[in-house]
Amino acid sequence: MTPHKYLITGGAGFIGANFVKFLLEHYNNKVEITIIDALTYAANLDTLAEELNRDNVSLLRIDIRDTGAVMKAVSDFDPDYIVNFAAETHVDRSVTGPRIFVETNVLGTHNLLEAARNAWCTGKNEAGKFTYALGRRFLQISTDEVYGSLKKDRPEGYTLEMPAELEKLMTDRVCPVAYGSLFFTETSALAPRSPYSASKTSADLLVEAYHHTYNLPINITRCSNNYGPYQFPEKLIPLIINNIIEGKRLPVYGKGENVRDWLYVEDHVRAIDMVLHNGRPGEIYNIGGFNEQRNIDIVRLIIDIVKRWAIDNPHIANQLSLDPQNINYDRIEFVQDRPGHDMRYAIDPTKIASELGWYPLIPFHKGIVKTVHWYLENPEWVHKVVSGEYRNYYKTMYEDKKI
Ligand code: NAD
Ligand code: DAU
Repeated sequence: MTPHKYLITGGAGFIGANFVKFLLEHYNNKVEITIIDALTYAANLDTLAEELNRDNVSLLRIDIRDTGAVMKAVSDFDPDYIVNFAAETHVDRSVTGPRIFVETNVLGTHNLLEAARNAWCTGKNEAGKFTYALGRRFLQISTDEVYGSLKKDRPEGYTLEMPAELEKLMTDRVCPVAYGSLFFTETSALAPRSPYSASKTSADLLVEAYHHTYNLPINITRCSNNYGPYQFPEKLIPLIINNIIEGKRLPVYGKGENVRDWLYVEDHVRAIDMVLHNGRPGEIYNIGGFNEQRNIDIVRLIIDIVKRWAIDNPHIANQLSLDPQNINYDRIEFVQDRPGHDMRYAIDPTKIASELGWYPLIPFHKGIVKTVHWYLENPEWVHKVVSGEYRNYYKTMYEDKKI
């Protein structure tokens, strides 16, 4: 059997690299992977050191904004699947510099759609509809942020009663917590509120338009917040872990009351694989774990996990700038809020669960411990990422917040 060919954009970033690892672990030599990545600040080739040594993985340093380079790469490789992870992804950066978000997330996606159409189209059928080589799929990795912000109308939090389709799948695997009565479904209105989410929404609309107009075989997945190994420490969880390691204060925006629906990255990439192989063409699938957490609770939990692990493991304590006994909640500093800060995200994953049988395997209480331990046990990876340019970023982004 000839291997399936995957063109993975943004494969040197957090979720893309975890997807590459997942494919190799599950399909080994039955896949051929070409990664396209511009290697921006968010990329890290150390994450893929082993994978890039394999014969069935190659990397092209290409910016998806470069129309000609994208066209050529897609046409030369002739992939079965294009999975578009490449994006500018940090909401705070989109507030201070929105233009690159439009260029990469919207125009870059458009280049990929054109390249796919060009490489895969085989003509038109009798009804005048465009036809494509068999088995091709364009998967746009989108986000729950396209739906905007939900009300936190149950601020005390409550244990969810699961929809019947999910209950049988998820029992004992997750502890479903929620802070509001409404959830994002695939038919929720699009209502993005940051330049980042507006750019991702625009890209989604283009992807849908290419399906409706050109019949391009596409899917869109919209996932909630991911956490796990190899995430760049500009995002909440790795930033807090790294700040504890470095003995810095722990910045929490506003009062820490905002809620996110957290999913372990391996659960996300498994869902992507399922959509790619079994998703109905043209369909959107929401992905999320019924796992809402307030930011303040996450930060406190990370403090507890680091402290416990460092007290029990002298080699970890030795890496920390502070004595583990001094790692307490008083390290938290409530800082100026993010402009337009979305209050609550919460995904209803009933469609992907009932159509494709997907459900999260990693409950939050296990995933967060695995994640914190991973950062503590991989100081070289962390150290390389946070030296150099990251220091300037941190200074600029957080000095306004008076921390
Ligand atoms: P990331 O920031 O860690 O990685 C992005 C990758 O894209 C990097 O390797 C970067 O070099 C590459 N890239 C950026 N601009 C590029 C360009 N112009 N050309 C080629 N490559 C470029 O992002 P992530 O967290 O892994 O997110 C991946 C995708 O998943 C994004 O599309 C994001 O919108 C979506 N998503 C992320 C989350 C999350 O919680 N992180 C949740 C839902 C959806
Ligand atoms: O929901 C999916 C989205 O999740 C993805 O589409 C984005 O690419 C990804 O960055 C993420 O967006 P968020 O804005 O939710 O993630 P971030 O880690 O930046 O922030 C999580 C929450 O923590 C948010 O409410 C802001 C808050 N926060 C963040 C940082 C960096 C703080 O309180 N302090 C911080 O220093």
